[in-house]
Amino acid sequence: MAKDKVITSADVKLWYGDFEALHGINLDFNQNEITALIGPSGCGKSTYLRCLNRMNDLIPGVKIEGDMRLQGEDIYSSQMDVVQLRKRVGMVFQQPNPFPFSIYDNVVYGLRLQGIKDRAVLDEAVETSLKQAAIWDEVKDKLHVSALSLSGGQQQRVVIGRVLAVQPDVILMDEPTSALDPISSTQIENMLLELREQYTIILVTHNMHQASRISDKTAFFLQGRLVEFDDTKKIFLNPHEQETSDYISGRFG
Ligand SMILES: Nc1ncnc2c1ncn2[C@@H]1O[C@H](COP(=O)(O)OP(=O)(O)O)[C@@H](O)[C@H]1O
Ligand SMILES: [Mg+2]
Repeated sequence: MAKDKVITSADVKLWYGDFEALHGINLDFNQNEITALIGPSGCGKSTYLRCLNRMNDLIPGVKIEGDMRLQGEDIYSSQMDVVQLRKRVGMVFQQPNPFPFSIYDNVVYGLRLQGIKDRAVLDEAVETSLKQAAIWDEVKDKLHVSALSLSGGQQQRVVIGRVLAVQPDVILMDEPTSALDPISSTQIENMLLELREQYTIILVTHNMHQASRISDKTAFFLQGRLVEFDDTKKIFLNPHEQETSDYISGRFG
């Protein structure tokens, strides 16, 4: 049975000034799947990812063409509320970026912005989100200490909890474990496998083991083009394109 497409993108092109960084990307994402975006540094993975929640809007001189849809709605329509969009399409970066507040205040940040004040509702959201982010047991007795006092791996899980608290449809992750130690990385990988049951996850990763271990689909980018997109098994065991094969086997990148 075909899965629901949560995000579709057709012929996406992006220029930074005169430099064309994306040359017409066609890529769709299914509900309840993890899609890995791989490719050498500078190939356009982050640029493409930022198109999906309009983070590139913030960069001066950027021009974007193509059609990108979230559940059928045009992401670049003038009707699209960008604040709402970034809630529906949450993002996690390479460097954990908790706010300099308590763990609790980090997680409820988005909910408070929505005007939610009811303590019981906020308490419930903190517990649920931190459980989903696989960090509840480690922090439940110190929710009011600064998030900055935690280890990098813990900070990243709190940040993921903050994203989950506003109940997004899609989670974008740009190399979320590359600044972390192997144990923290594995914890986050296992968490993503759980989160897949409820979310659509798009994961940029430099780590081939990570992509092959946890993703359902893999997209291989090279110099602003999408070279190959397929089931992860196919990409890693029997890729169609020579360039994919060369990259997977470590011949460049
Ligand atoms: N803000 C920017 N201004 C100009 N060029 C940029 C900007 N961000 C990225 N680029 C360029 O766009 C290309 C793709 O970069 P990026 O999307 O960051 O690649 P990746 O995430 O795959 O390493 C690179 O050539 C990079 O130098
Ligand atoms: Mg990048």
